[in-house]
Amino acid sequence: MASSLSPQIRILAGGEHRVLTDIDRVDPTSLASYRDHGGYAGLERAITRLSPEETIREVESAGLRGRGGSGFPTADKWRIAREAPGERKIVVANLMAADPSALGDRALAEGNPHLVVEGALIAAYAVGASEAIIAVRRDWTAAIERLQAAAREATEAHLAGYLVLGTDTSIQLSVWEGSGAYVAGEETALISELSGDRGMPLIRPPYPASRGLWGAPTVVQNAETLGHVAWIVAHSPDAFASVGAEGNRGTKLVTIMGRVGEPGLLEVPLGTPLLELLGMAGGGTGTTKALFVGGPGGGAIDAGSLELAYDYDTMERAGAIIGSGSILVTDSQTCMVDTARFFVDFSAREACGKAVPCRIGTRRLVEALDRVLAATPRPNDFMLLRDLSRKVSDTALCKLERIASAPILTTLERFGDEYQAHAERGVCLAGACRTDRVLPLLEPLAGADPAPAREPR
Ligand SMILES: Cc1cc2nc3c(=O)[nH]c(=O)nc-3n(C[C@H](O)[C@H](O)[C@H](O)COP(=O)(O)O)c2cc1C
Repeated sequence: MASSLSPQIRILAGGEHRVLTDIDRVDPTSLASYRDHGGYAGLERAITRLSPEETIREVESAGLRGRGGSGFPTADKWRIAREAPGERKIVVANLMAADPSALGDRALAEGNPHLVVEGALIAAYAVGASEAIIAVRRDWTAAIERLQAAAREATEAHLAGYLVLGTDTSIQLSVWEGSGAYVAGEETALISELSGDRGMPLIRPPYPASRGLWGAPTVVQNAETLGHVAWIVAHSPDAFASVGAEGNRGTKLVTIMGRVGEPGLLEVPLGTPLLELLGMAGGGTGTTKALFVGGPGGGAIDAGSLELAYDYDTMERAGAIIGSGSILVTDSQTCMVDTARFFVDFSAREACGKAVPCRIGTRRLVEALDRVLAATPRPNDFMLLRDLSRKVSDTALCKLERIASAPILTTLERFGDEYQAHAERGVCLAGACRTDRVLPLLEPLAGADPAPAREPR
């Protein structure tokens, strides 16, 4: 039922493992259809046959790591929240989909909303939460409607609400619409927004699992992670763990775009070599130059390193991240300096302004990149790009800031010749940028003295 998704979401056939993307069989508007395909078996099993601690152990032995970006072990977070003092505990499903290019969470919400709801209810049962809030970005109207309908149907069928399935467990389920700003997907910013404040990150610790929304231990979990939770409890931890790589179990939704034959959404086992992943999407359209892995704060992996495994640890070692699960494919006609600028400019514009190094630093980085692109660098611009990139990262309040300069650091290291050619000769080696580009601020005013000659670097 691929037509049930917004037109920009195209699910590619990909590999053989389609745990989450096998959604074309289920009618997203029907609880009966979801149940016909084994839906809510996981919740029923957890609530009627497993204790909360046993449920946590299943997720632990599956080796599930959070799919929202950093890969934190899901069971560890649940245990912290379960053991934290407090009567009131909350689960928040994070569907803020902060990186607008990533399609995975939206595909799940539109194509299989009950899967997300089921995962959130299982998480709530495991941590002892009495509330599960599905937080969705406001502009996803189809997703919101389906999630609301799914929450209503689940509550009417006593899968949520008071005395779930006739047991003494009660979980209030609600759907909340959030702003959809990039930073608002960061868990503490999401909690701020949910509590009525501006969506700005908070200093951690305390981590939300110990003290989160309204002071209550709060488990914030990505939609994809929750989809896996429902699958694991319904099937088995071993079946989940049989796919993927050591320490990186299960499948991952990947949005692949740019200079690639078939842009779209793939589901691949973690640990799949990048080259294989590219092949599943029809291969590069030109001579592939690099893959920007992880969204706005991801890093560039050059074409010579595409044998690297797409998993949390390998990508981090290579200066990239799994992040939002998006991958931008570039080719010989893509300028690496301009692409780095594009990403850092996005982070600078989306910075909430709370942390000064982030607010000012990311903007200064964009300005330095603009000077390089316009062949008007200042003598210390290359040093500034490196040092300021590290400083912005080291002084980070939240992860937006910590990862914002990764596109610069990885392209400077791997494509330094493109920076040099732009800065020193005004030449774009990819032939992609206008070489007569000038900085508006540096354009001489009418009647003013001509700009001084550029100092040698
Ligand atoms: C700038 C920024 C944006 C983020 N956006 C999202 C998002 O849209 N969805 C999401 O699940 N996690 C996002 N995260 C990660 C969350 O902070 C958090 O780690 C995640 O929701 C936890 O769920 P998980 O353990 O299932 O991954 C973002 C983090 C940062 C720094």
